[in-house]
Amino acid sequence: MTTINTNFLKFPGIYLFQEVARQVAAFKKTGPDKRVISLGIGDVTQPLAKAVIEALHKATDEMGKAETFRGYGPEQGYPFLREAIAKHDYQDRGINVDASEIFVSDGAKCDVGNFQELFSCDSIVAVTDPVYPVYVDSNVMAGRAGDFADGRWNRIVYLPCTKENGFMPELPKEHADIVYLCFPNNPTGATITRKALEAWVAWAKREGSLILYDAAYEAFIEEEDVPHSIYEIEGARDVAVEFRSFSKTAGFTGLRCGFVVVPSTLTVSDGNGGRVALKPEWSRRVATKYNGCPYIVQRAAEAVYSDEGQKEIWAAIAVYKKNARLMTEKLESYGLKVYGGKNAPYLWVRAPEGYDSWGFFHLLLEKACIICTPGVGFGAAGEGYVRMTAFGSPADTAEALERIGALFK
Ligand code: MLT
Repeated sequence: MTTINTNFLKFPGIYLFQEVARQVAAFKKTGPDKRVISLGIGDVTQPLAKAVIEALHKATDEMGKAETFRGYGPEQGYPFLREAIAKHDYQDRGINVDASEIFVSDGAKCDVGNFQELFSCDSIVAVTDPVYPVYVDSNVMAGRAGDFADGRWNRIVYLPCTKENGFMPELPKEHADIVYLCFPNNPTGATITRKALEAWVAWAKREGSLILYDAAYEAFIEEEDVPHSIYEIEGARDVAVEFRSFSKTAGFTGLRCGFVVVPSTLTVSDGNGGRVALKPEWSRRVATKYNGCPYIVQRAAEAVYSDEGQKEIWAAIAVYKKNARLMTEKLESYGLKVYGGKNAPYLWVRAPEGYDSWGFFHLLLEKACIICTPGVGFGAAGEGYVRMTAFGSPADTAEALERIGALFK
């Protein structure tokens, strides 16, 4: 008899952003007179850079000629892109990462969801609370999370991030084999200092644990003391894998491209008293299940690093940063408490007195036709907050703020 992977049946509901979309669709059916504006899912709105579009056109034309046509590419990604990434994102910043350690993919969401396949099913996983749901849900599917009760999975170690600790996770009090860290953080917008990240690397060494470091939002960092990569920390190559994305940096949410860095020096237990290098195992997994990011998309990603591409992507990021500043200023002027939004495209907004996360979500949706993301959807510690994204167009962001303002007059 065909039987489902019963771990799927343990989920209390559908994926967070599907649930939000479901509720928005139901609301739209009631026929609101205003256009609904999304400050919900972190989807970009600025168009792709011209340099990226040109690269896409050129690569597409190459595919139409026998002499330049390309079929299957290297699963790990074309050397031209891996070398550009290694140079611009790492080596030019004095960080030791080689092109051979980079695995290009169709995005960081897939990578962070898939990477857990490399680890034994009884591994103990630690996550921050609130947390990007993919880290938890992919481990639920693999059977590592245990059972769900009272908003939490009983085999997951939760590291609460609250206003009391500045939304900074404390080192786990119990052992964890794997910890997911995301900085700048989705959803709280918090960032980690060099010193705090050093403490995490030291912890991982001490515990024999691995850090899965999601740096998808590093382009939004403004402050000096905030590391862009975990490999800025000495020793991190021995204990950390890093995930990056072109989605939020260069507007690739629809094009799809990201990458994972798996240092050649990184090893984990082989379960038998020895050590095994992780990079060949990730390579094995990638080669088995993936035929590589499309050639034209990799050429587009390469163009992000051209002088023209750089100018244009930083202009788009500046638009989102301006949105974030305006959102913080306006929301605070309405009396709302706002966190994040400085080195990150997300604002973590405290719901007003008398509202929980979903209550405030519904108020904004039904009275202002604004979509946000309920904080509790990211974890129990997110209750009482909503997340708002700064990725909207400036016009929509300004209108959304006016509508929210009208609720607080
Ligand atoms: C989010 O809204 O949290 C992100 O857009 C999700 C993602 O990047 O997959």
